[in-house]
Amino acid sequence: MRSVIIGTGTAVPDQVVTNHDLVKIMDTSDEWITKRTGVVQRHYCAPGIGSSHLAIQAGRDAIADAGLLPDDIDLLITATMTPDEFVPGIAPTVQNELGLGMIGAFDVRQQCSGFLYGLDIADAAIVSGRATNVLIIGAESHAGYLPFGSSWELLRGERDGSPDQAEYDAATESRGWSVLFGDGAGAMVMQAQPDAPGVLSSVLNTDGTLADLIRVEAAGFKHQPWLDVAQITSNMHLPTFNGLELFRQAARRMPEAVRSVAAQAGVAVEEIDVVVAHQANERILDAVRKEMHVDATVIPSNIARYGNTTAATLPLMFHELRETGRVPSGSLVCFTAFGAGAHWGALLYRHP
Ligand code: ACO
Repeated sequence: MRSVIIGTGTAVPDQVVTNHDLVKIMDTSDEWITKRTGVVQRHYCAPGIGSSHLAIQAGRDAIADAGLLPDDIDLLITATMTPDEFVPGIAPTVQNELGLGMIGAFDVRQQCSGFLYGLDIADAAIVSGRATNVLIIGAESHAGYLPFGSSWELLRGERDGSPDQAEYDAATESRGWSVLFGDGAGAMVMQAQPDAPGVLSSVLNTDGTLADLIRVEAAGFKHQPWLDVAQITSNMHLPTFNGLELFRQAARRMPEAVRSVAAQAGVAVEEIDVVVAHQANERILDAVRKEMHVDATVIPSNIARYGNTTAATLPLMFHELRETGRVPSGSLVCFTAFGAGAHWGALLYRHP
């Protein structure tokens, strides 16, 4: 059996926030964000809308696109760094709302590599004969992380005027990471097919010595209680971010992983038609393109429109490529990601 992608779907929240909008609530500029990151706009969830809402919409579309019914899905994998709630995660909500049967359903928590880990697990389940149709969804609502306070009202057009100075300062303090992220979801249905091309090889890596590169210390169960006001007043609920080292690692590890899966499958890297790479920063993609001697037709980007959507990035990009005819039958596609953990890897796939 080989694992073949037979359906895709996506969902993004309605609210679009441009770099010019962010200038109203923090000390930044469209020029800095565009030049240093490639992000021009991103979507943000409204309060009360979580990753599960986006996941349900993307999952429903992927099942319909695959020409299946909810009952046909026999395994659900939801990748998210931003679950609606810590316990029980989003998988049970998504399973229930999509009307899937009594199947295995679980979250994976590998941040920007979450969807890649999901693809690998889905393929393993298919190849071992344990699953026939696997629904894999990456979904994120980062808006809850963003320390914008009442400035959200300005972004949402609920009032005019200036931000509160303390909130302007807090948002400015976060500018090194907050401008990068956007909300969204993407889904794929992978099916077991005999004598098909499909997934050819896969590699997953984790280096825990790099765990401090991105960390959110609160809330967590080494604290008693696990969440308290002191954690929030000391900003432990906000990510700490070593941007420069993340940049270096991502630019090195993604090409390494692509070469590794190509070697495993016995194909030349030059044979790969398209690399669907994690979209953390356009400059990282430029560095990867340079290292691999390819251009943006081989490693495309959509970060300008969505920002870094963490676990949703790979399926959003693949869906777009598929919809616009850039993954014709026979294409050799390589998925690769690097993110917090540090987790990274690649998966090589021949589209039937
Ligand atoms: N607007 C204006 N100025 C800014 C902004 C901003 N939004 N952000 C930072 N600056 C300023 C800084 O204050 C600094 O000023 P200083 O020199 O006066 O101190 C200057 O710009 C340079 O800041 P750096 O942090 O060095 O900027 P850099 O060019 O490294 O870009 C960034 C930072 C965008 C975070 C980059 O390092 C990056 O993309 N890193 C990789 C992110 C990544 O890989 N993420 C993937 C994992 S995410 C996940 O797994 C969830």
